[in-house]
Amino acid sequence: MKTAPTKTVTVDLAERSYDIRIGAGALSGLGEALRAITTSDRVAVVTDETVHALHGAAIAEALADFRTHMFVRPQGEAQKSMGGLDAVLDSLFRAGFDRGDTVLAFGGGVIGDLTGFAASVFKRGATFVQVPTTLLAQVDSSVGGKTAINNAYGKNLVGAFYQPRLVLIDTELLQTLPARQVKAGYAEIVKYGLIDRPEFFEALDAGLGAGILSLEPDALSSAIATSCAAKASVVSRDEREGGVRALLNLGHTFAHALELEAGYGGALLHGEAVSAGIDMAYQFSARIGVCSAADASRVRDHLQKLAMPTQLDMLPFLKDADTLLGHMRQDKKNAGGRITLILTRAIGAAYIEREADESALADYLKDICT
Ligand code: NAD
Ligand code: GLY
Repeated sequence: MKTAPTKTVTVDLAERSYDIRIGAGALSGLGEALRAITTSDRVAVVTDETVHALHGAAIAEALADFRTHMFVRPQGEAQKSMGGLDAVLDSLFRAGFDRGDTVLAFGGGVIGDLTGFAASVFKRGATFVQVPTTLLAQVDSSVGGKTAINNAYGKNLVGAFYQPRLVLIDTELLQTLPARQVKAGYAEIVKYGLIDRPEFFEALDAGLGAGILSLEPDALSSAIATSCAAKASVVSRDEREGGVRALLNLGHTFAHALELEAGYGGALLHGEAVSAGIDMAYQFSARIGVCSAADASRVRDHLQKLAMPTQLDMLPFLKDADTLLGHMRQDKKNAGGRITLILTRAIGAAYIEREADESALADYLKDICT
């Protein structure tokens, strides 16, 4: 099989450094890339039913020289549970896998988070590889080593930082992704521009964003490479979110409150909530006077131009300000009883506010609740 050209971004973490290989058709280079990181010829591919039906044959072909086991799970967030974890581990034990064999996540963020956590605890840590198939997973969840499942107390509360040995991103896999999921992934792309890459935001606004949403191959590989480089740079400096990594949560504290209100049943995708949450972070920053109203409007205009969700589309989930504030108090970033928010001074100038003004936040939430 001919190997397609790829761009490479490295996540620099000393002895745990790894490459992210990005390109249209990159899957054809998976076998060669695996040979460079492991001597084992056994691979457990964990995927979901949807991805398996669409792309199972392609990954099986890419791994033709390996002894490959395909473990297919139902799709959906419910897989990120003790039951889902147990099922993946059981498959690995039954098939006689060893720690040196490769456990490969082939799917969106759900499969990536579940498989990564399973790999981290399987015999105290198996070789883990990510082949993400959603735009959100290609620009965010497959990079950086956060793995987790959910429990009765909330999302992603049981997990580990466990870095993959390789991330291989084939942008052609996105051609089958429903438009709603593409937009959900775009929220995490525009986030990188708004955190600290104003020139990237300008390019997105000037047409790159529209190209991504219409799945143009060059727009995808360029924006995915920039996004992965942005994330890699943050993760290399702060792997375990002691500091700057929190910036990656721009819009997320608002988003998590919206998601809790929506109930994780598919009414609101994570990326849709992030898109609206980014708008809310800019609107709130402008309201308390740390960012100009012009910049907040520019961000909202950009999102609206691309038919991305903003706070104005969240009315069904904006019912009660006290409830929302309560949700925001539960955020994992908080410390010392104060709400941590990622706020912004301008486009591309996000900062971590560890002592958000709760009364200003309560007033803002009251104003936007119906
Ligand atoms: P997902 O994994 O549920 O995938 C979305 C849907 O798309 C699923 O139905 C899936 O079957 C389908 N799908 C996947 N690839 C496809 C393809 N190529 N063509 C057609 N359909 C395809 O959702 P997601 O948005 O990728 O990930 C969301 C999860 O990621 C959440 O659990 C979230 O907590 C997690 N997450 C983790 C991190 C991290 O750093 N670890 C970051 C962000 C989000
Ligand atoms: N998605 C946020 C992070 O990886 O830190």
